[in-house]
Amino acid sequence: MLTRRSLLQAAAALPVAALAPAWATGDGLVRTPFGSAPELQPLRGWLDGQDRLAEGLRLQGRWPAELRGTLYRNGPGLMERAGQRYRHWFDGDGLVQAWQLGAQGFSHQARFVRTPKFVAEQEAGEFLLPAFGTAVPAKRPLRRSDDVNTANTSVMLQGGRLYALWEGGSATELDPQSLHTKGLQTWAPELQGMPFSAHPKREPDGRLWNFGSFGGKLVIYEIDAAGGLKRWKLLDMAVPAMLHDFVITERFLVFLLPPLRLDLAAVKAGRSMVGAMRWQAEQGNRVLVIDKADLSVRAQLQMPAELVFHFGNAWDDGQGVIRLDYVHGDIDEFLDGRFNSVVQGQRPSSVGESGPRLLRIDLPRQRLDLVKREETTEFPQVDPRVVARRYRYVYAPARHGRAPGWGFNAVQRLDLERGAVERFVFPSEVVIEEQLLVPKPGSRREGQGWLLGTGFDVARQRSFCTVFDAEALSAGPLATVWLPYWVPLGFHGAFVPA
Ligand SMILES: [Fe+2]
Repeated sequence: MLTRRSLLQAAAALPVAALAPAWATGDGLVRTPFGSAPELQPLRGWLDGQDRLAEGLRLQGRWPAELRGTLYRNGPGLMERAGQRYRHWFDGDGLVQAWQLGAQGFSHQARFVRTPKFVAEQEAGEFLLPAFGTAVPAKRPLRRSDDVNTANTSVMLQGGRLYALWEGGSATELDPQSLHTKGLQTWAPELQGMPFSAHPKREPDGRLWNFGSFGGKLVIYEIDAAGGLKRWKLLDMAVPAMLHDFVITERFLVFLLPPLRLDLAAVKAGRSMVGAMRWQAEQGNRVLVIDKADLSVRAQLQMPAELVFHFGNAWDDGQGVIRLDYVHGDIDEFLDGRFNSVVQGQRPSSVGESGPRLLRIDLPRQRLDLVKREETTEFPQVDPRVVARRYRYVYAPARHGRAPGWGFNAVQRLDLERGAVERFVFPSEVVIEEQLLVPKPGSRREGQGWLLGTGFDVARQRSFCTVFDAEALSAGPLATVWLPYWVPLGFHGAFVPA
């Protein structure tokens, strides 16, 4: 076990490297005005850094009477200051939204997370600190990763507390009602400033697992249902430059480690983190299986190289056979800059591939089997009642038929038992975001619930929230709630019943 001092030194290592000058490189802030592609407007972000509130939202259709609560979402909300824009979607400052649905009418609140970075840059009126995909020269002292924490990736509710998450640093606690920022979360004194990923996994009994990765090391967290740290462990092993998500079963934690290396010389020469990433395809992906019982490494297996952002779910059969699903990403699109054009409001020359992969890991036989599906999806979700358990359905935004050039125009349910897909393709041009499965009160069967998610209507230039009967997606939304404005496209969210 490393000492607290060496932990903190390791946590501080990456941002200090980012102190190097950016002027020498080609991945600094962009000065070109934002483009005019109507489907990309929400990627412009909100320019003023001001919070918004809209009450008495317009409701279309019949909202299910039993569906009452708050849909929290998070994403990069501010991409531009003083006429200069970030290059990469992942860079923007965290904007947390709360959609109040059903209980006291329908309202929407959006508030920027007051990270130290946001507060300083808001006051200065310009960007002062390096970002993940944009090499901004540091104009403030950089001591630790939380100095550049944007809190922009997801939200977590545990023990009645709300957190904004960012994988490179600490969770940031917010007030669940007002969304006011309370401050950085420290799970234990020796873990101060340690990364806490944006993809924690909650067991049906309320326990929560998460990880953080930094400087080639991996820290594992187990948090009880009341929100207290139960166990943690630091694994001193080679992890890639970016590790975004993982998956749990009843017995194991499973990671897929893509061969993404950080070129430290490039970072020192002033490149951004993304600009300094190198893909080493010949090394393949490592499958890392950790035993929950003692948090030891149970197995490491090899598979072909593939970029992975998100998992749906996983389960094991008690005999050492694990089944899981994930979405593969397009490494070329991620590294070659095509992804950056949409953040400048310009249509990309082509859209990268992403879609479901079904992986079977046989630990006794040390064997892997991979099934590649044809659909184009991202942001997979499952019924929260089946996390880490045997499961049948995966829900996701999808691109189908004559989709616009960018984004998702459909919602789908993949039935893993039958291999069948049920979907709804929106009739007008839309960009669909993550869709969450919310169980119906009193129901027991997997998938018996609503599919709740957000999107952007291109013609109206407004954001909306739809609810589907998750067992009848093709019938279309039961109801749609409309905002009087658009919200910057976000990443992930969570629903809390009233
Ligand atoms: Fe994510």
